[in-house]
Amino acid sequence: KSPIYILAIESSCDDTAAAVLKDSKVLSNVVARQGIHEEYGGVVPELASRAHQQNIVPVVDVALKKAGIDKSELSGIAFTQGPGLMGSLLVGSSFAKSLAMSLNIPLISVHHMHAHVLAHFIDEEGYDKPEFPFLAMTISGGHTQIIKVNSFFDMQIIGETTDDAVGEAFDKSAKILGLPYPGGPLIDKYAQLGNPKAYQFTKPKVDGLNFSFSGLKTQILYFIQKNVKENPNFIEENTNDICASIQNIIIQILMDKIKMAVEETGIKQIAIGGGVSANSGIRNTLKEAESKYGWKTFVPKFEYTTDNAAMIGIVGYQKYLENKFEDYSVTSKARIEF
Ligand code: KG4
Ligand code: ZN
Repeated sequence: KSPIYILAIESSCDDTAAAVLKDSKVLSNVVARQGIHEEYGGVVPELASRAHQQNIVPVVDVALKKAGIDKSELSGIAFTQGPGLMGSLLVGSSFAKSLAMSLNIPLISVHHMHAHVLAHFIDEEGYDKPEFPFLAMTISGGHTQIIKVNSFFDMQIIGETTDDAVGEAFDKSAKILGLPYPGGPLIDKYAQLGNPKAYQFTKPKVDGLNFSFSGLKTQILYFIQKNVKENPNFIEENTNDICASIQNIIIQILMDKIKMAVEETGIKQIAIGGGVSANSGIRNTLKEAESKYGWKTFVPKFEYTTDNAAMIGIVGYQKYLENKFEDYSVTSKARIEF
């Protein structure tokens, strides 16, 4: 039966998202962001699940309307099974199950981290897809992983963070500077006006392809405290340089590990995803690496890189083609094997 229409639902953290795909093309990709968490400086799980509960029906409605299709035309429903916040995941999975059951169509579970990796296979004018095998790096507020991707359903984590995610390193540094949450995009903005070599921070020593960012955060905290003691206006007077230097060390940490992963695997295709891949410094550095090291790099459209349902839909489509369906008794999983 062709074409295949997949409704996808993503609710693993604080964004309620729904998308409709026609085969591997995105017809609609809707996200309701939850502003409520900003005043708390981080996601409050209980508030997130309540907001999902309010948002899910209108978000799915809008996604179907924008796609211009009726729910009776859907071939299957894909949802994020995990990992994520349990209360948030349950809203998405319960909704997906009920709708699939009422329409009597297949239900498809999707691993959120697989979806970040496979978002590169969404059909987009002018977007070259990576070829297997490739290296994927998912960098977001919740994750920092390097993945060797052999095929759609065969991939292994070859490096990951042992503590904070890289997005947290950005957000926590921003918080130290008194910037609002999430501070990553602001650090990026100010960094573009500053000198990345103004202040030196040291890279953590971590074995192999793994990462650690909690020490860097402490290093930045002490650095700021020491300087503010000497000059109360230190942050205001040097915001651009401080941001550029913080961003620079984070990029160096990431690049060191990608280089190591390329050496270890011999794979020179690097596909990045997750909210932090929006960072202009990271994008520029990767582009430079193409000519410098002969790599081919892939950075998807921003809306497919932060948490979204289109990426859940593309995995849903691939699974649909292989009849990888779920029983209606499937459960959400806060932690889930890769
Ligand atoms: O993928 P995402 O929207 O949500 C998850 O964490 O799963 O990623 C959000 C993270 C936040 O930490 C945010 O500060 C960071 O991505 N971020 C950035 C930029 N845009 C978003 N970090 C650095 N530079 C940016 N331009
Ligand atoms: Zn994510």
